[in-house]
Amino acid sequence: MRHLGLTIAAAGMAAALAGCGKSPTNTQAGPSQASSSAQPATSGGTQSAEPTAEQKKQAVAELPAPYNTGDLDNGEAKFAVCKSCHTLGAGGADMTGPNLHGVFGRKVAGKPGFTYSDALKAQTFTWDAAQMDRWLTDPKAMVTGTKMTFPGFKDPKDRIDVIAYLKAETSGQ
Ligand code: HEC
Repeated sequence: MRHLGLTIAAAGMAAALAGCGKSPTNTQAGPSQASSSAQPATSGGTQSAEPTAEQKKQAVAELPAPYNTGDLDNGEAKFAVCKSCHTLGAGGADMTGPNLHGVFGRKVAGKPGFTYSDALKAQTFTWDAAQMDRWLTDPKAMVTGTKMTFPGFKDPKDRIDVIAYLKAETSGQ
């Protein structure tokens, strides 16, 4: 009898906690745009909301020069050629290429659940702006045997802008 009572109480608590976790995240999603600074970037929650304009600016400012001067609008326009293969947001789908959320600071070929080429898996570097610049100049020249079929941006300005855009869109929660 005593055991049964405890089990029921525990189940009740678990249900209450589960309910607790769900509703507040939904109600907070709307108004956060109006006061971006009110929402701490490192709340540790599971929300996958778009980063705010302020968070994007901060993420770009963390890059070394000249990437921190990147033009996000041109970066977004140039990223159009990547879009058929990559998503950027937290929890985004893997397509032909892996979801790129959190790619800066991550080991190459490090997105869990994506099947990379042996060539990319054999690399040991960590993604930063300089490595990304080499990659986007000519992926196959940087990593012979990669399965990313993208010829590269020849204009250095396009690489700077895309790198800034990538940093802005893939950082944060
Ligand atoms: C035709 C599809 C395709 C296009 C277009 C493409 N990619 Fe990729 N990308 C891939 C594939 C596939 C991989 C995995 C490569 C491998 O395993 O060798 C990859 C890998 C990457 C990686 C390394 C990810 C990691 O976890 O190490 C980055 C960064 C990247 N792509 C960025 C870009 C950007 C930026 C563009 C646009 C300029 C782009 N890609 C265009 C298919 C594509």
